[in-house]
Amino acid sequence: MCGIVGYIGKKQAAPILLEGLSKLEYRGYDSAGIAVADGSGNFNVEKCSGRLKILIEKTDGGKRVKGVCGIGHTRWATHGMPNYQNAHPHNSADGSITIVHNGIIENYAEIKRKLEKSGYLFYSQTDTEVIVNLIDYYYKKYKSGPVDAISRFMNRARGSYAIAAMFEGIENKIYAAKKESPLILGIGKNEFFLASDVPAVLKYTKNVLYVDNGEIAEITSNEIKLFDIDKNIVSKDPVEIDMDISAAEKGGWEHFMIKEIHEQPKAVQDTLRSYLDSDTIDLSDTGIEENVIKKFRDITIVGCGSAFHVGVTLQYIFEELLKIPVRVEMASEFRYRNPLIGSDSLVLAISQSGETADTIAAVKEANKRGAITLSILNVWGSTIARESDFVMYTKAGPEIAVATTKAYSAQLICGYLLALKFAQIRKKIDCAKLNRYLSELKLLPEKIGLILNNKAQIQRYAAERSNVSDVFIIGRGIDYSIGLEGALKLKEISYIHTEAFAAGELKHGTISLIEHGTLVVGILTGENLLEKTKSNMQETLSRGATLFGITLEKYASKTEEISERIFIPDTCEIFAASLAIVPLQLLSYYISVQRGNDVDKPRNLAKSVTVE
Ligand code: G6P
Repeated sequence: MCGIVGYIGKKQAAPILLEGLSKLEYRGYDSAGIAVADGSGNFNVEKCSGRLKILIEKTDGGKRVKGVCGIGHTRWATHGMPNYQNAHPHNSADGSITIVHNGIIENYAEIKRKLEKSGYLFYSQTDTEVIVNLIDYYYKKYKSGPVDAISRFMNRARGSYAIAAMFEGIENKIYAAKKESPLILGIGKNEFFLASDVPAVLKYTKNVLYVDNGEIAEITSNEIKLFDIDKNIVSKDPVEIDMDISAAEKGGWEHFMIKEIHEQPKAVQDTLRSYLDSDTIDLSDTGIEENVIKKFRDITIVGCGSAFHVGVTLQYIFEELLKIPVRVEMASEFRYRNPLIGSDSLVLAISQSGETADTIAAVKEANKRGAITLSILNVWGSTIARESDFVMYTKAGPEIAVATTKAYSAQLICGYLLALKFAQIRKKIDCAKLNRYLSELKLLPEKIGLILNNKAQIQRYAAERSNVSDVFIIGRGIDYSIGLEGALKLKEISYIHTEAFAAGELKHGTISLIEHGTLVVGILTGENLLEKTKSNMQETLSRGATLFGITLEKYASKTEEISERIFIPDTCEIFAASLAIVPLQLLSYYISVQRGNDVDKPRNLAKSVTVE
C-alpha cells in the first residue's frame, strides 16, 4: 500500500504533490511527506505523522515549499510504527538521495546488516531507508549514475516496490522504478507526473504510461526515458485514460462512501450494459471463448476481503447453475497449500484494484499450475489484468472510500453473467429459464434505487442502535454470504464487533456469546432456508438478543414475529445479494457517522493492500 507521487515541470511542485496525494489517501493515511528540489542542488523534505491534512496545514497548502520538481508519499505502515520518523520521503545516510516507496523489501534485514558493516547508520525502522542507502552505496561505488545504481538495487532486492527518487546535485530529474507495485507516469505539456494510480494525475492529464515490472524511468521536464533492468532503452506508447475526474470527487456528498453507495444503480447498469446485448450475454471483451468455457471441470474462486465475499456468493450460484465443483478460497491461503488444480481448472480471481498482493500471488500460482485464469477487476491494466488469461472489467468507475460498495455490487453482476453464460454454453440452462434470469437482472439497478430511496428507515434504526457493542449477522446459503460482507462493512467503518455466522452453526458454540442487547441481524431471502434461519433467530431472542431482519417483500407475512424488519424488492434467489447488501451498507455507514468515525478512511486500513 502507500501512495507515491512526483511532479516535474514549470509549476510549483508542492501544491501539485499534495493534491495528488489527496487522491491516493485511500492507499494509506498513517503519515505523509514530500521532498522538493529547491533549485540549488538540495531538497526540502516536509513530513508529518497522521493525515495528509496536517502536512497541508504545515506547508500552507505547499506554498512554503518552493521548487518545480518533487516527490511525495502517503503511508500505510508496514515496517515501523506509523510515526514521524518512519514517514517518507527517506534520505540516504548523508542526505544526498531522497526516496518514496510503495511496497515491501523482503530481504531488507539482510541488506541492512551489510550496509551497516559498510558504515551506514539508520534512523528509522523502515525497509525504505534500506533501499535509499543501498542505491546510495551502488551510486558511490560504481559511479555510473542513478539508473545504474537503481538497476543494481533491483537486482539485489527481493519484494515489491514502486519508488521515486531524487539525487542531490542532479537538478530537476526524478528517477522511478517498479516491481509489482503499481506506477504510472502522466504526460503533460512540458511537465510530467508520477503516481501509484491514475486519479492522482487526472486533473492534469489523461495521457499516461504504465511502467512495467523491472523498468526504470528517468524523468525531466522535457522527456521520459524508460530503461529495462539491464539499462536498455524501452519505448512504449502512452495510453489515453477514459475516466472522468468528477468520479474521483465527492461532488457535494459528505463522504465518498455514501456517494458510492448511491452510485450502485449506475455501476450495476453500466456493467450489465457492457456485457448484455439485448438478450445475449456477450463475453467477447473478456477474450474468453466457447472452447475454453466448455473445457474446465472445476472452478476455484480467489479474492480478499469483500472480493472474497463475492466469491462466496458466486460459489453457490456457479454450483447451482453449472453442476461442477466450485471452491472459494481466500487468496492469502490459496498459495500456501497445494491446490489441486490443473489445466482443467478455472481460477476466477476477483479484485477491485487488481493490485492486491495476495490475489496477484494466487493468480500466479494458478498460472504456474496450468489453470485457466479469469479475473473480475475494476482497474484497467492492473497487475492482475496482466497476469490473467482473460479479464472481465466491472464498470464501477473509481472507488475511493476504503470500504467497498459499488465495486462489490459490480463484481456480483460480472459473476452472475459469467455463471449464466457458462451454463448456457455448457447446456445446463434452457432458454426460458435464462431469459427469466436476464429479465430479472435488468431490473436490479432500479430495485437498488428503490432501496436507496427508502434509506430513512435505516438511518433511524442506525441512530437507535449506534451504541450496540456486539452484532451477529446470520443466514444460510447465499444469505450467509451476504452476512459476511455486511459484517465486514460494520467492522471496517463502525468498529463494532460483528460476526457473520451460518445460522445453523450458531448453536455449536457461538450462541454462548449472545446476551442481553446483542443485535442479531437475520438475512432471510432464501425461500427454503427462511424458516430455519428464523428459528435460529428465535433461539437468540430467547437468550436476550434484539432481532433485526432483512427480507423480501413477498416474505412479509412469513417474518411477522421479527420486530424490526427491512423489506427489499422481490428478486430471484440467486440475485438476492445485490439487494440485501444495500441496507447493510447503509446501516454501517450511518452507524459510523453516528459514532463520529472517519468513514472514508477507517483506522488501520487501506483500500489497496499491496503487501502480503
Ligand atoms: C482491502 C480492502 C477491502 C478489499 C480488499 C481486497 O483489504 O480494505 O475492502 O475488499 O482489500 O481488495 P481488492 O482491490 O483486491 O478488491
